[in-house]
Amino acid sequence: MWSPRPLGSMAGTGWPDMQRLAGKRALVTGGIRGIGLATARAFRDEGAHVVVADLRVDGFAEAGLQALAMDVATQAGIEAGFAAALGQLGGIDILVNNAGVYDLAPIVEVTRASYDKLFAVNVAGTLFTLQAAAKTMIAQGTGGKIINLASQAGRRGEPLGAVYCATKAAVISLTQSAGLNLISHGINVNAIAPGVIESDMWDHVDALFARTEGLAIGEKKRQVAAGVPFGRFGRAEEVAHMAVFLASDAAQYVVGQTYGVDGGNWMA
Ligand SMILES: NC(=O)c1ccc[n+]([C@@H]2O[C@H](COP(=O)([O-])OP(=O)(O)OC[C@H]3O[C@@H](n4cnc5c(N)ncnc54)[C@H](O)[C@@H]3O)[C@@H](O)[C@H]2O)c1
Repeated sequence: MWSPRPLGSMAGTGWPDMQRLAGKRALVTGGIRGIGLATARAFRDEGAHVVVADLRVDGFAEAGLQALAMDVATQAGIEAGFAAALGQLGGIDILVNNAGVYDLAPIVEVTRASYDKLFAVNVAGTLFTLQAAAKTMIAQGTGGKIINLASQAGRRGEPLGAVYCATKAAVISLTQSAGLNLISHGINVNAIAPGVIESDMWDHVDALFARTEGLAIGEKKRQVAAGVPFGRFGRAEEVAHMAVFLASDAAQYVVGQTYGVDGGNWMA
């Protein structure tokens, strides 16, 4: 039976001379590039055994990381992928729900297909992968850490981002409820809300804005970067640092929270 680390004990909380995730078994969805890959690398470097899962993993080769195909948009994909991950890891201590997709459109042009896809991946994918991990963690009796990738877009609306923003608001809400529901099992559920991070996703976002607003490629990124208080886009590694903290024992008293990693873009 899991029991909380006593108040005052700092053992295993990860001071600089030790690997903060030594021996932990971690699954990172959407983990072959971007924030997911940076997180998987950071977990590996902290001593974790890491499996990255993504739609297609052919050709993916990264020292110390195992990869498997998993489509979080369907229940069958989650169940098959999660079972395969368990087979490789032998159990699970950390899940990062990172797989996500983006689209934009004015409200009057939002399509049902875009809505269904974004909610299937970003919301149902997050919830039901979280559920699979939580069931296993409860059966193991050893607690665990679950980290969901929300977004600053989940904190407020955006004129062209209604559906994406709604999915990320849902991730923040699910994080709160799951956090409350699972902490009695020693499972910490928390989320990260990145601001604007250099990645393939943002190149896609930039291209969509270019088409929708008639901008040159790269212009939206320049505009957005100029508005970040820190003065630039973030790096995937800067998000990964937060994920390492939330995955570590040092975060045991952190429950249902969503942390911004956004260069000062959004304040509670
Ligand atoms: N880049 C940003 O500025 C930013 C900001 C806020 C939040 N986020 C969130 O962070 C997460 C990672 O973003 P990123 O920028 O690294 O994105 P990315 O597009 O570079 O990577 C996302 C990964 O998820 C995978 N994926 C997509 N659909 C999937 C599915 N059905 N099943 C399994 N894998 C799937 C993709 O193949 C890809 O490898 C996403 O949830 C995103 O919404 C990103």
